[in-house]
Amino acid sequence: MANVTVIGAQWGDEGKGKIVDWLASRADAVVRFQGGHNAGHTLVVGEQVYKLSLLPSGIVTGTLSIIGNGVVLDPWALKAEIEKLTAQGVEINAENFAIADNCPLILPLHRDLDGLRETAAGSGKIGTTGRGIGPAYEDKVGRRAIRVCDLAHLDALDSQLDRLCAHHDALRAGFGQPPVDRAALIAELREIAPYVLQFAQPVWKRLNTVRKAGARILFEGAQGVLLDVDHGTYPFVTSSNTVSGTAASGSGLGPSQTGFVLGIVKAYTTRVGSGPFPTELEDEVGQRLGERGHEFGTVTGRKRRCGWFDAVLVRQSCAISGVTGIALTKLDVLDGFDKVRICTGYRLRGKVLDYFPAHAADQAEVEPIYEEMDGWSGTTAGARSWADLPAQAIKYIQRVQELIETPVALVSTSPEREDTILVRDPFVD
Ligand code: GDP
Ligand code: IMO
Ligand code: MG
Repeated sequence: MANVTVIGAQWGDEGKGKIVDWLASRADAVVRFQGGHNAGHTLVVGEQVYKLSLLPSGIVTGTLSIIGNGVVLDPWALKAEIEKLTAQGVEINAENFAIADNCPLILPLHRDLDGLRETAAGSGKIGTTGRGIGPAYEDKVGRRAIRVCDLAHLDALDSQLDRLCAHHDALRAGFGQPPVDRAALIAELREIAPYVLQFAQPVWKRLNTVRKAGARILFEGAQGVLLDVDHGTYPFVTSSNTVSGTAASGSGLGPSQTGFVLGIVKAYTTRVGSGPFPTELEDEVGQRLGERGHEFGTVTGRKRRCGWFDAVLVRQSCAISGVTGIALTKLDVLDGFDKVRICTGYRLRGKVLDYFPAHAADQAEVEPIYEEMDGWSGTTAGARSWADLPAQAIKYIQRVQELIETPVALVSTSPEREDTILVRDPFVD
């Protein structure tokens, strides 16, 4: 068995899309297992730039791409994304793309609620992507979701809609909003249903069939461990489990199948949205990281907050997700810095911590303890082999892997697919 599970080990945007695309040509199937179109994965192949939110990054190489049951699916966003990629020359059809028939749907009422709550929260907002992700997951665990399979039975939806609308109408009334327009919702679902249903199937079955035939399966995580609803910086998190364990429950293959866990780790730290961020830099260094790294959100266009590499957080993420090896990305963004810093611990009210505490107030208060290293004057940008890296950049990589107690499997040195250094092949581990 040579499967690989890719997860983000920070607050998302680590470069998962690039790495999944690079690995996809050697996989037989790529599966998204959580999140929704809050994700924004950018792939650069020559002159072409592909921005994916819902579709697995394997679709660009034509690899069988699957949306697993753990994803929350907005049917209209799906259609728009498929149309956009088709216009870019990517072929997407019922042969190379499938959606789990037990996927819960994101409906317009979820987007409404996401927006109403964020507006009402004012400065206390989470800073969500506004895509309705949280409300859709709430309805899933509240057992009132409409799922992909329901689109084939819209005439029998009355009692489900009663439950769903009773819940949402009460919430909407609290925000001074009119009740859900049921007739309009049913009409919209009727219109989109055939489009979604052409891809719908029991994907657990398909995955188990290809697995038995010896397929290599690549599981593509969205967001990052620090946005995990249990292990992240709660409540400033997304509403799904982003850790590697979800690859099994969110796809319909068991934990024994998830294989090598590849944690994607940016050589510095970024975060988009609200919440604690111990190594955040609001000075010209942070500005420089943001500019060099083009740190603007793919989904919302928001400026990402930037800071030094936090080894405490990444060590914690790697432990929680059982990371086998990491892909260190965006090393080139650190080119040209005289000095680089790494956070190796925290100080909290006179005590030194080697982990990130759970309580929001403590998370907000910890002060980073830094180790400083010399930067490198040569460039890593575009390097495709270890030998192309300046000695001091290699020292940085070695220090990172020592501090996070996890080896480096890949290094990424530009947005371009092929600017990637393979240190240890996750597929042949
Ligand atoms: P994802 O959400 O984890 O897939 O990451 P995003 O695509 O949201 O953000 C990563 C950004 O960095 C994208 O614009 C990528 O094209 C770019 N990127 C990925 N790897 C590298 C790298 O090694 N160097 C540089 N400079 N950019 C990279
Ligand atoms: P990728 O897959 C970075 C953040 C949002 C917000 C919080 C909750 O591209 O790494 P949500 O809309 O999920 O309820 O928002 O999570 N967030 C992400 N940040 N990358 C992402 O995905 C993200 N998806 C959600 O900014 O802080
Ligand atoms: Mg992203």
